[in-house]
Amino acid sequence: MKSEPLRQAPAARAAFVFAALVWTAAPGAAQAPARYRPPPERLPREVPPQPVRFNHKLHAAAKIACADCHPGAETEARAGLPQREQCMLCHAAIAADREEIRKLAALPAAETIRWRRLYRVPDFVFFSHRSHAAGGASCAQCHGPVAAREVLTQELSTGMIACMNCHADRQVSNECFLCHDLGQ
Ligand code: HEC
Ligand code: HEC
Ligand code: HEC
Ligand code: HEC
Ligand code: HEC
Repeated sequence: MKSEPLRQAPAARAAFVFAALVWTAAPGAAQAPARYRPPPERLPREVPPQPVRFNHKLHAAAKIACADCHPGAETEARAGLPQREQCMLCHAAIAADREEIRKLAALPAAETIRWRRLYRVPDFVFFSHRSHAAGGASCAQCHGPVAAREVLTQELSTGMIACMNCHADRQVSNECFLCHDLGQ
C-alpha cells in the first residue's frame, strides 16, 4: 500500500498541506476561506469512572501483554475489550478477596461490562488495527503511554488531521478514499 507511487499524487499532498494550514490558522482569521474545520476536540478527554475499576499500570507491571486483553490489536480491525471471563482467568485466584474483584465475580456471567469508550472514529471512516501493526505503528503512538497510566483518558487525537499527519510523515497515501467510502 505505502509504496504505490500513484497514491502519492500531488492532489493528495495538496489536500494534506491545505488541511495542515487550516489547522494552524487562528480560528478568528475571518478572511481565510476555511474549507476544512476539524470538529473541536479537548484533550486529554476524561470519561466517568469505569463500571469496574481497571488499572493499566498495575497490570503492565505484572507483565501482562496488551494482546492478552485486546486480542485483535495486531491481528484484526478491532482491538477488542475484555469481559468478565478473561478477568476471572486470573482473578478467580488473584486478589479474590478485594472488594472490586468481588464485584466483578458477582456479575452474571452473561452480562456485558459496558466499558466507557475513549477512542472512536465515526462509521464513515475505515480504520484497522491489523494494517497499522503491520505498518509498524505502536500502541503508544496512537494511545499514549498506556502502561504508565492508572486511569486512562483519551490522550491523543483520532481526528482526520492526526491521521493525515502520520500518513504524510510515513509516506502513506492521504487520498480521501483510503479512509472514506466515496460511494462509487
Ligand atoms: C493475567 C492475569 C490477570 C488478568 C487477566 C487480569 N488481572 Fe487484574 N490483577 C492481576 C494481578 C497480578 C493483580 C495484582 C494483584 C495484587 O495487587 O496483589 C491484579 C489486580 C487487580 C485489581 C486490584 C487492584 C486495584 O486496582 O484495585 C483489580 C480491581 C483488577 N486486577 C481488575 C481486573 C479486571 C477488571 C480484569 C479484566 C478486565 C483483570 N483484572 C484481569 C492479574 C490479572
Ligand atoms: C488485564 C487486561 C488488560 C491489559 C493487559 C491491557 N488492557 Fe487495555 N483495557 C483493558 C480494559 C478493561 C479496558 C477498559 C477500561 C479502561 O478504559 O481502563 C481497556 C482499555 C484500553 C484502551 C481504551 C479503549 C477505548 O477506546 O475505550 C486502550 C487504548 C488500551 N486499553 C490499550 C492497552 C495497551 C496499549 C495495553 C498494553 C500496554 C493494554 N491496554 C493492556 C484491559 C487491559
Ligand atoms: C494508528 C493508530 C493506532 C494504533 C497504532 C493503535 N490503535 Fe488502538 N485505536 C485506534 C483508533 C482510531 C481506535 C478507534 C477505532 C474505532 O472506533 O473503530 C482504537 C481503538 C482501540 C481500542 C478500543 C477497542 C476497539 O478495538 O475499538 C483498544 C482496546 C485499542 N485501540 C488498543 C490498542 C492496542 C493494544 C494497540 C497496540 C497493539 C493499538 N490500539 C494500536 C488507533 C490506534
Ligand atoms: C502513527 C502513524 C499513523 C497514524 C496516527 C495513523 N496511521 Fe493509518 N497508516 C499508517 C501506516 C504506517 C500505514 C501503512 C500500513 C501498511 O504498511 O499497509 C497506514 C495505513 C492506513 C490505511 C490503509 C490500510 C488499511 O487498513 O486499509 C488506512 C485506511 C488508514 N491507515 C487509516 C487511518 C486512520 C483513519 C487514522 C486515524 C484515525 C490513521 N490511519 C492514523 C500510519 C498511521
Ligand atoms: C488517513 C485517513 C483520512 C483521510 C486520508 C481522509 N480522512 Fe476525512 N476523516 C478521517 C477521520 C478519522 C474523520 C473523523 C474525524 C472526527 O472524528 O472528528 C474524518 C472526517 C471527515 C469528514 C467529516 C467532517 C469532519 O471533519 O469530521 C469529512 C467531510 C471528510 N473527512 C472528508 C475527507 C476528504 C474530502 C478527504 C480527502 C481530501 C479526506 N476526508 C481524507 C480520516 C481521513
